[in-house]
Order: sequence, then C-alpha cells, then structure tokens
Amino acid sequence: MFGTERPPEAKAGVEDVDLSGRTALVSGSTSGLGRAAALSLGRLGAEVIVHGRDEAAGEAVVDEIEAGGSEARFVAADFERPVAVSALADAVRESVDELDVLCNNAGGLFDDNSETDLGVGRTFHVNHLSPYQLTAELLPTLAPDARVVTTASVAHRFATPELDGLAALTGLSSWAAYCRSKLANVRFATELARRLETADREVTSNSLHPGIVPGSEFSRTLPAPVPQLGELVGELPVADSVADGAATVVYLAAADEVADVTGGYFSRCRRRTPDPDATDAEACQRLWERSAELLDVEEPLAAAVAD
Ligand SMILES: NC(=O)c1ccc[n+]([C@@H]2O[C@H](COP(=O)([O-])OP(=O)(O)OC[C@H]3O[C@@H](n4cnc5c(N)ncnc54)[C@H](OP(=O)(O)O)[C@@H]3O)[C@@H](O)[C@H]2O)c1
Repeated sequence: MFGTERPPEAKAGVEDVDLSGRTALVSGSTSGLGRAAALSLGRLGAEVIVHGRDEAAGEAVVDEIEAGGSEARFVAADFERPVAVSALADAVRESVDELDVLCNNAGGLFDDNSETDLGVGRTFHVNHLSPYQLTAELLPTLAPDARVVTTASVAHRFATPELDGLAALTGLSSWAAYCRSKLANVRFATELARRLETADREVTSNSLHPGIVPGSEFSRTLPAPVPQLGELVGELPVADSVADGAATVVYLAAADEVADVTGGYFSRCRRRTPDPDATDAEACQRLWERSAELLDVEEPLAAAVAD
C-alpha cells in the first residue's frame, strides 16, 4: 500500500467512499500533505475549503479540485494572527451550513521561533494555538458526525520535559519548539475528544503522524544544508511520499471504519500508542485551559468538565 504511486485515497482504502454533499476545510493545503489531502477529498466528491497564505498556490489547488468536478474555494489566513484565524472561521460559516471534516494540518518547522503578538513562540502559535482557536470557533458549525483530524508528528515523542505543563512558549530552538508543538497537537486532539464525548457530541477527534515526508515544503525556512539533506533522505527507503503522508489524513477524514473512533493517534492508517505524556489527562487539560487564557477566550466546551 505505502511506497507505491497510488493516490492517498487508494492508499487509505477509501477510494470508493462518496463524500458528495460533504464539506471539508483543510488548513495548510497550499502545499505538501494538506494539498494532497485536499485534492484527494475533492476527488471523493467533497466541497473543499483550501487554506494557507499563498494565494496563487491556493487558487491553483482550487482549480485542480474544480477541474475534477468538485467545488472548492481558497481562504487566506496567517496563523500567526488570531484576527486572521477568526476571519477564516467567519468565511467558513458564510460558505457552508455545516462542516463535515476539519483537517488541522497547517504548520511546520520554522527557523525563527520569535514571539508573536501573544507573547508565545511562533511555532507554538502556528502549530497549536491557531488550530485550537479555529476549532473552538468552528465547534458550532461542525456537523453532528463531523471529524476533526489533527496532523501531529512522531516528533511529539522527542519533546523535552516541561516545567509548566505547556508546550513551548519562547526561547527554544526550532527543533525543540517543533517537538513541543507536536506534543501539543496530540494533547489537543485527545482533550478535544474527551470533552466532545462528555458533552454527548458525536464529533470525533483524532491525531496522526504522516510519516517522514521530505517531498513536501516542510523544511523550506530552515538554513542549508537542512533542505538539501531532506532531498537526500527522500531518496532513502525510510522516506514516505507526499501521497503516503496524506493517506492517513484522508483515512481519518473518510474511512467508514473510523467513523466512531475518537481520541486516537494514527500512523500509516493504523492506530498507534502515542507517548504516554501525550495523553496524560492533567497535562491535556492544562494545555486546553492555558491555550484559552493565552487567546483570551472562554474555555471551549468548558461545561463538559464543569464538575
Ligand atoms: N513533512 C514531514 O515529514 C512531516 C512529518 C510530520 C509532521 N508533519 C506535519 O505535516 C503538516 C504539513 O506539513 P508539510 O510537510 O505538508 O509542509 P508544507 O508543504 O510546508 O505545508 C505546510 C502548510 O502549512 C501552511 N502554513 C505554514 N505556516 C503558516 C502560517 N503562518 N499561516 C497559515 N498557514 C501556514 C502552508 O501554507 P502557506 O505556505 O500558503 O502559508 C502550507 O500549506 C505540518 O503540521 C507538519 O508539522 C510533516
């Protein structure tokens, strides 16, 4: 299945799933895994909202989805700016009655982890806080059986111990900040699943590791020789193709067999066990609460854990 030239939906075994009438938002779908997942969901018939900052790249993805017969639109939003994330949520609400699939995929490994206006490291802001904010703002728009799919990484296992239970704020190297932000992704998806279940909502929340995918634009901001090394790794058998990486996103978004599965962490379309620290109930809850404080918003799904 993996390592072949087939498209993500075939690798995920969902090529016969019909997503006609369904809507999907894929954050970070102007390139790499998100782009491949958006195209794949479009081929399955979904109406797709493409997101990123690069308008030309986003419109090209829209054109490709429309050429295949599905509807699509591009919405730009910089995940370093909460106001832009809110505008994206508004645009989604204006264009669809209900959102069936929310893929929190935008993110990356950034050379510069300087502070954003919220006083947190850019990596933490883009990779965790903005997906948290976007999901919170879209909770009322999610279909009753919607799926929230968060692209984390095996890098969550390499996160250094935290003093305050929170993923990186400032002052970390690119890699350390990245690992902590990916730990935050798994914790976020785990806590979201717990709170949705407690609130008796059937919306599911799962996270995933897409594989080692040097063929995306992942290391674009890093100094030489990192991107060049990435190209070399791409030649090795350990590397996954972009379609391999997108397959697990598409699987979680579309496969019937995971329609009721929530709180899981997946890789290569199979459920795996994440680092125990990533599902520690207290740490997950602390991250959730602290994220709301940083964004200065009401804690999402707070009633679900009031007691
Ligand atoms: N590649 C790998 O080996 C690998 C492994 C594990 C996990 N992942 C995860 O997979 C996800 C996708 O990465 P990729 O490998 O596909 O890399 P990519 O090709 O660089 O794609 C990243 C996407 O995120 C968007 N993005 C980045 N910064 C943004 C910002 N400030 N505001 C809004 N959008 C932003 C980019 O859009 P614009 O350029 O248009 O802004 C792009 O669409 C990430 O969450 C990454 O951590 C990747």
